Amino acid sequence: MEAWLEHLVLFFRDQPLDVDTFRSFAELFGRPVEYPFVPGLAGHPDVIEIAKYPGETVNFGGIWHSDTTYLERPPKATTLIAREIPPVGGDTLFANQYAAFEALSAGMQQLLLPLRAVNTSSQADVSHTREDRRLDAAEEGYDAPCETYEATHPVVRTHPETGRPSLFVNVAHTARFEGMTEAESRPLLAYLFAHQVRPEFTCRFRWQVGSIALWDNRCVQHNPVNDYHGHQRVMHRITLSGDRPR
Ligand code: SIN
Repeated sequence: MEAWLEHLVLFFRDQPLDVDTFRSFAELFGRPVEYPFVPGLAGHPDVIEIAKYPGETVNFGGIWHSDTTYLERPPKATTLIAREIPPVGGDTLFANQYAAFEALSAGMQQLLLPLRAVNTSSQADVSHTREDRRLDAAEEGYDAPCETYEATHPVVRTHPETGRPSLFVNVAHTARFEGMTEAESRPLLAYLFAHQVRPEFTCRFRWQVGSIALWDNRCVQHNPVNDYHGHQRVMHRITLSGDRPR
């Protein structure tokens, strides 16, 4: 746990865990929760499959984001295990949002500290990345919710365990600052979206079958690189219950 809080993302190689054991691993860190838009595996509603098939060009979640920040209580953590990987590509990038906040000028930090931002599940760039999996789910009879989820969170979040401030907006889900229009919010949000994923805040993980990553959604963003068209990549994902950002 200490290593996770210090390093934000943990990686484990060569862990060919079955679904039950992967779930037990996740439970060491928290309580698994269901993802609203894609059904879980049979018998495991809180474990979802994230796949891109050879005929597809869009990858699930293929944009910088922190998971489901449109919920009142976004997950504190996500863990992924690689089941099938492409011969090349399909890495995942991670960006440290403590570092992103700390690198801002004192003036910008002061400006951001009192602000809150509205996060929504309906932004076009990210909705598009879920569409193939939603269609698969519909074919299997799963009735995905049509509603839009929306939640307002602090722009700078204090981590409940480390007490450290981190930037808590993301290009996939953050639409505007509370009390402002989207047009008014856009210039500063655009600056923050570019700033928060500067290469010096990131690391890149190259998957192998049986690799596991576990990251802290409260202070990390991730982005799966979509550079393996024509090949198959299949992962299993579990998200862990989180608290209300403060
Ligand atoms: C996600 O959870 O957003 C997908 C990450 C990945 O496929 O690497």
